[in-house]
Amino acid sequence: MPESHFSRRHLLKVIGAGLLGAFFIARLLNRARPSGPIQHILPTVTHNQFLIKVSFWEPKKAVQLSVTRLQQVNHVAGKQTDSRGRFWLFRVSGLASETNYTLQLSDATDLIDKAWPLKTFPSPDSHPDSFKLICYTCAGGPDGFSLPSGKNFFKPHFVRHKIFDAAIAMRPDAVVAIGDHIYWDLRGNNSATVGSGFIGQIITWYLKHSFGAFDRTQKIIGFNSDNEAVLTAIGDDQIAHLYGTRFKSIPMFFVADDHDYFENDDADLLTFPPQSFNRRAHAAIADLYYPAFLSAPADSPGIDSERNNRSFGTLRYGKLVEIHMFDCAGYLTMEKTKSVLFPSPVEDWLVNKIASDLTKHLALIPSHPLAWTAGKWREWYPDVVAPNGEFTGLVKNKLLANIHGVLSNKAQKAGWQKGWWLQHQRLIQAIDKNRSRPTILLSGDIHALGAKSIEGSGDIDLSKRPIQSLLVGPISTSDMAWPSAARSITAATPGWLKTSDRVETKEDNGFTLVKFNRNGIQATLVNFGGGPKISKMQIGKVHKTTITLV
Ligand SMILES: [Fe+2]
Repeated sequence: MPESHFSRRHLLKVIGAGLLGAFFIARLLNRARPSGPIQHILPTVTHNQFLIKVSFWEPKKAVQLSVTRLQQVNHVAGKQTDSRGRFWLFRVSGLASETNYTLQLSDATDLIDKAWPLKTFPSPDSHPDSFKLICYTCAGGPDGFSLPSGKNFFKPHFVRHKIFDAAIAMRPDAVVAIGDHIYWDLRGNNSATVGSGFIGQIITWYLKHSFGAFDRTQKIIGFNSDNEAVLTAIGDDQIAHLYGTRFKSIPMFFVADDHDYFENDDADLLTFPPQSFNRRAHAAIADLYYPAFLSAPADSPGIDSERNNRSFGTLRYGKLVEIHMFDCAGYLTMEKTKSVLFPSPVEDWLVNKIASDLTKHLALIPSHPLAWTAGKWREWYPDVVAPNGEFTGLVKNKLLANIHGVLSNKAQKAGWQKGWWLQHQRLIQAIDKNRSRPTILLSGDIHALGAKSIEGSGDIDLSKRPIQSLLVGPISTSDMAWPSAARSITAATPGWLKTSDRVETKEDNGFTLVKFNRNGIQATLVNFGGGPKISKMQIGKVHKTTITLV
C-alpha cells in the first residue's frame, strides 16, 4: 500500500504499535545492571605483550593493573581513553612467552573486583602442538531492538550470550570477531536511519531521542563533547554489555567491516570509502571498547602500522600457524580497473606472507568472503539480484525492498568496480602459487554458515588443489537481517567461480571452531539454528559439522 493511502485509523495503529515497540526497546535497555564495578574487559595478546581494554560503570580518577607471575609483580598504570574516566587501556610489554599471569585492577584506595588469569602466546620460534581458534561474525546490534510487528534485526543479548558461552566452553586459545561489532548506520546523517516509511521513521525518531545524534563538525572524544555521550550510549549497549567480562582470559582479535564505520554497504547511497566523520567514529568506538592489533603489518613499505592497527593485523602462534586479518571496507577505492578493496601495500605484504613458509599453517581472514555472493554492492563479485538471469541493465537494489529476482552477473551492479575482482584474482593466484602449504580462508560479513572448496576462479583452474573457504557464522542476526529477508535471495556461489559444497550454506546463527595441529586443520561449524524459520527471539538445536581442511 502506498504511504499516502494510509487511512487515519491505520496511521494511529502504526504509531501506537511503534510506541509499543519503543517501549519494548526501553524495557530491555533499562534492565538491571550486573553487580560489580567493571562494565567490560576485552584483552588481546602476543608472545610478549598484553593489551587490555577495561570500562567501569562509574568514572575513576586513576586505575592500575598488577601483573603477577610467581612472586614477581609488575604495576602498570592505566591510560584513560574517554573524558570521564570510565574507559581505560593497559599496555603490558616484556612478558615471558606461553606464561600464565594473574591480573588485578586497583584504584587509589582499593582492589577492584577479583584477579583473573591471562596467558601469552608461545614464542614465534617455538613448536606448539595445537591451536584452537573460534571465529564468528556480526555480533553487534542494539539489545532488544524490536519492530512493532515483533520482528527483530538482532537477537537479544541473552540469546547471543548462550552462543558466546558455548564458544567459551570449547576453551579456545583465541577468538576472532569478524566485523559488525556495532550496527548504527548513519547513511551520511547524524543519527541512525532504520528503513523507510512510517515505521522506519518512528523507530529512527525513537533511536535519535533515546541515544542522541552526532554533530559531524565536532570532535568525538573530549570534554563538552555531546558526541562522546552518543558514542558511549551506543557502545555500552552493543559492545560492553554484550561482552561483559566473559572473555577476560581469552585473547580477542577484532576485524573491522562496513558497519564498524557506521554505514552499510548498499549501492543506493554509496557510503564508502568512509567519510572523515565515519573514519573518526570507527577509531573512537574501537579505541574505547576493544583492543587494536598488536602485530600489524609494519614490515611493508607504505603501511603505517600505528594508523592501520584496527584494520590489518597478524595472529602468530609459534611456528604452528600464522593468521592475517584484513578489513575490506575502510580503505576500498573506486577507480575502475585500478580499484582495490584493501590497499596495495597490504596486498604486497599479504602476497609475501603467503609465499613464505614461516609457519606450518596459514589462514587469511578477509572481512568479507571469497566464494559467496549475496548481491551486495561491495563484494569481490559482480553478481546482483536482477529481475531475471538475462537482464543486462543497471541494478541498484535497496535493502528490505522485497525484490523478486535472481542472482546474476549479467546485469550491471551499480557502483561495482572491476578492480575488486582483479585483486581477488591476484590473491587467488598467490595462494595457488605456494604449493608448500595450503592457505585457508575464514570470513564473515554474509549472514550464514557454510564451507566451500574453490575449484576455479575466472580462468584460474584450482581443481587439482582447491582452496578451502568458510563462512564462519553470525552471532546476532535475526529475522530481518538474513540475506533471504534483506535481499530476497540466499547467498550463493558467484557466477565466475566454480565451487563445491563442503558444508551446505545455511542462514543460521553460529560460529566456527578451527583446530590447527601438526597433522592438519579441522573445522567444526557449530550451528545453533536461529534462522528464518525459528521464532524471533530464539535459537534452535545445536548441530555440529566437522570437516578436514588440510
Ligand atoms: Fe553483518
